[in-house]
Amino acid sequence: MASNGFMAQWVYTDIVKDHFMNPRNLWKEDEDFNPDGVGEVGSLACGDQMRVGIKVKDGKIADLRWLTYGCASAIASTSMMSEMAIGMDLKDAYNLKPEDIMAKLGGLPEHKFHCSVLGDKALRAAIDDYLEKNHMENPYKATVAKIICECMGVTDQKIETLIKEDKVKNLKDLQDITGAGTVCGKCVPRLEELIVEMKHIYGKEA
Ligand code: FES
Repeated sequence: MASNGFMAQWVYTDIVKDHFMNPRNLWKEDEDFNPDGVGEVGSLACGDQMRVGIKVKDGKIADLRWLTYGCASAIASTSMMSEMAIGMDLKDAYNLKPEDIMAKLGGLPEHKFHCSVLGDKALRAAIDDYLEKNHMENPYKATVAKIICECMGVTDQKIETLIKEDKVKNLKDLQDITGAGTVCGKCVPRLEELIVEMKHIYGKEA
């Protein structure tokens, strides 16, 4: 039967399937949800835009809604992320990693990993937005930065910001601005991967 054939091709775990079919904490348009912070990442052009809104109370995520035009993996991982984040204090929520979400989902096919990073990125952007709107310091940003180029001390966050702000489109731009990858060169493959990943996430591929 055609439907059996279709289900036989389903490569996701039952938990992923459940979250995909019954996504939790979806942002319904007619719902009266007034977020304290909103984060948006991705682009409609590549079909995986993600928006996350949060309500914050006593330093914790009191409520969260999300909206995406993403694929099954993006929907399931953001749904799971929303369940994990509600009730968390801002610091833990900011440090929520795609790996943690994936583990709770029981895994995702490898080529789908990038889809699962949108939810937690949008969550971080929403927390940034909340802190900025309330003129509060953002103590979390530095804690999630990882050094990618040891020789020049360039972090993933620095690269992310430069791409987001359209200052870097390729490895050469990055090298001109930061010097990353110009000393021993061992970080170059990772730099190139990151540039592709970030351009995809921020819809800078054209
Ligand atoms: S680690 Fe980046 S140039 Fe050496």
